[in-house]
Amino acid sequence: MSEPLLKVDDLSIAYASEEGALQALRHATLEARAGEAIGIVGESGCGKSTLASALITLLARNARVTSGGVRFGGKDILAVSDEEQRRIRGRHIAMIFQDPMTSFNPVLTIGEQLVDFQDQREGLSKSDKRRAAAAMLKRVGIPDPERCLGRYVHELSGGMRQRAAIAAALLMAPQVLVADEPTTALDVTMEAQIIHLLRALRQDYNGAIVIITHHLGLVGELCDRVYVMYAGEVVEEGSTDDVYHSPRHPYTQALIACDPANIHDQTPVLPTIPGRLPDLVNPPQGCSFAARCARATDHCRSVAPPHVEVGSRHFARCHEALP
Ligand SMILES: Nc1ncnc2c1ncn2[C@@H]1O[C@H](COP(=O)(O)OP(=O)(O)OP(=O)(O)O)[C@@H](O)[C@H]1O
Ligand SMILES: [Mg+2]
Repeated sequence: MSEPLLKVDDLSIAYASEEGALQALRHATLEARAGEAIGIVGESGCGKSTLASALITLLARNARVTSGGVRFGGKDILAVSDEEQRRIRGRHIAMIFQDPMTSFNPVLTIGEQLVDFQDQREGLSKSDKRRAAAAMLKRVGIPDPERCLGRYVHELSGGMRQRAAIAAALLMAPQVLVADEPTTALDVTMEAQIIHLLRALRQDYNGAIVIITHHLGLVGELCDRVYVMYAGEVVEEGSTDDVYHSPRHPYTQALIACDPANIHDQTPVLPTIPGRLPDLVNPPQGCSFAARCARATDHCRSVAPPHVEVGSRHFARCHEALP
């Protein structure tokens, strides 16, 4: 098996808040290899975007790394200079955001920006870069690329904007592509089209893809491995098949049971997991999911669960999970 391209090692990130340090990410460890797509799933507030911001070294101003790091190219990219981070970002690690508007400047045409995004590609003339931009727009399914180059972002539909943002991210042929909720802002039809596009792009992309979403179906369609996050921790990881077909952490089981795709009867209200995320300023001493878990014992409430290997490269952080 190839060496991981990207390795998140024991990463903890806290935000300064009025109540104290909010521990948004706690000892997260994960890796992505070349040619592999990994998914990161979990409810709102469990730390997915915090992790994404660390992967592209764009942490919020009030964020602080309290343990671990992100290893890429033999270095901890959270510890290198701002200048080196800027060089890595875009060129080696690129991001597709939930809101494609954030990828573009509203006062410049798409073409001007797609040319600018290639400023680190040496030996190419401006017209070469424009041609490369048009070819990439065509690759992501924009019907009239030349016309699109002359447009402003607000002149495109939501689906076209996301396609253009994907083209922008791919233009530098990054080794790692991170997508944070890439389809959440789109309607169902557009979402299906973007999933289809990402699947097609996977075929000829040799880098690592990291898809961050609360949409289990998206990960099921696209990813080889999945990491399930709860309250800032990775609580289960494994191949998408193993985790979806035999989830071992009660949180993963609940998440799958609540997935709209698994609800076949005509329930008027979608089920949700009862209870709320714990207070991340004072996280629980034992298992973070204990307060919402039907199987929790006193032991679960007082002692942090071990990382149990429940199958081949399949782990669950649960006292009740047996190897
Ligand atoms: N800049 C910030 N300052 C303080 N708290 C923050 C900041 N950014 C995020 N948080 C908090 O950190 C926790 C994790 O947030 P994060 O955005 O990483 O979650 P998420 O899984 O991406 O959620 P969603 O699915 O809603 O996007 C939440 O409690 C959130 O309120
Ligand atoms: Mg988020």
